[in-house]
Amino acid sequence: MSKVDVLLGLQWGDEGKGKVVDVLTPNYDVVARFQGGPNAGHTLEFNGIKHVLHIIPSGVFHPDKKNVIGNGVLIDPVIFEREIEGLWKKEVDATKNLFISKKAHLILPTHRLLDAANEQAKGNEKIGSTLKGIGPAYTDKIARTGLRVGDILEFDFRERFELQKFQHIRIAEMLDFDIDSFRIENMSLQEYEDRWFASLDTLRHFKLINSEYFLNECLANGLNVLAEGAQGSMLDIDFGSYPFVTSSTTVTAGVCSGLGVAPSKIDKVFGITKAYCTRVGSGPFPTELFDNDGDILRNRGNEFGSTTGRPRRCGWIDIPALKYACMLNGVTDLLVTKIDVLNDFETIKMCNKYIIGGKETEEIPFEFNSVEIKPVLNEYPGWQCELQGTPSFDQLPKNALSYLAEIEKAVHTPVKAVSISPDRKDVLFR
Ligand code: GDP
Ligand code: IMO
Ligand code: MG
Repeated sequence: MSKVDVLLGLQWGDEGKGKVVDVLTPNYDVVARFQGGPNAGHTLEFNGIKHVLHIIPSGVFHPDKKNVIGNGVLIDPVIFEREIEGLWKKEVDATKNLFISKKAHLILPTHRLLDAANEQAKGNEKIGSTLKGIGPAYTDKIARTGLRVGDILEFDFRERFELQKFQHIRIAEMLDFDIDSFRIENMSLQEYEDRWFASLDTLRHFKLINSEYFLNECLANGLNVLAEGAQGSMLDIDFGSYPFVTSSTTVTAGVCSGLGVAPSKIDKVFGITKAYCTRVGSGPFPTELFDNDGDILRNRGNEFGSTTGRPRRCGWIDIPALKYACMLNGVTDLLVTKIDVLNDFETIKMCNKYIIGGKETEEIPFEFNSVEIKPVLNEYPGWQCELQGTPSFDQLPKNALSYLAEIEKAVHTPVKAVSISPDRKDVLFR
């Protein structure tokens, strides 16, 4: 009996999960996504190719590995079809090694309508959603009105679709949303709906399965499974900076419900953090930089959203948030990405504590969104040289090793690897 290892983001997403999953995939037989949907954008780079995945697991470029979209994931068939076509262009035939849970919920075109209507209604308080329909689709799942992948095979699917659509349109009207002018990727709602139904044919070509049985059989047969997280712990529906979060359980606990594996089956938890911090969308970000240092991080780190192209907010690494995430996830191995982005800094800063209401604290307060948080920043000397070509972890510049040691000490979790470029080949394991 083998176990499931988990890889997830410890910050506000975009930590480099896709890249690291791709690097770790040779050690596994199965890679499985357990939550999120097309709000995710996971970038992989190798042999001069750059590829962004949204719903499909990041193991898909390894033809001998199985990839599973678990029950906890949301699927928009149009985006799914586009991803499959994108893979085709790179000569990857996902029909062979991609398995999809029949229990995964569908994102309907009107979920995207509602996402936009809800955001508009929130005005200045808007979440900054990726507008992929995530919140409304998970809302229907919890309300027990959602449609699932397996339902597309049922005779009354169209009828159930129409019922849902009717309800959604009524809500959008109540919110005074201009449905006629609404566009999804330059398509009217009706055009997108037509495309949506056409793309169900692509979905039907895949192995639609009871993925909880499939995965538990894999484990019973000694296959190694890697669960790939989307978003990050600070965007978790329970523990993130609510309401500025996504609508799923992004922490390790989500693996159990999103794949149907028992807690006792979880082994290692790889927590990914950037060597600094970013966030897209609204909500608190105590270490955010509004100065030249922030611009350096954004430009050197190419911090523009993989899904929406929005500029990411940038700041120094936030240890209280990282400690919180390590605690919630039971991180066994810390993997630090994008350390090369800090190459030019003479001095690097790290937030070890917050000052809230005149008092020092290392905890994320309940009032995270409403209180003024002043980060206490410690300074560390930079290394000011390129890292490309560093042959091994131990041969990183002395100041880079000291910086990593500080992170490790602060969060009481060992750093097991560091990533020094977007490319697959540039991960240094310890
Ligand atoms: P994910 O959502 O966690 O998979 O991360 P994204 O793909 O959204 O964003 C990470 C970005 O950083 C992508 O553009 C990656 O190609 C890039 N990246 C990943 N690791 C590194 C690294 O070590 N150094 C640099 N410079 N870029 C990296
Ligand atoms: P990956 O997997 C970064 C953010 C959005 C918004 C909030 C809610 O690539 O790390 P949603 O569309 O889920 O309703 O948006 O969450 N968000 C992400 N930020 N990376 C992601 O995914 C994200 N997925 C959602 O920007 O603030
Ligand atoms: Mg991303």
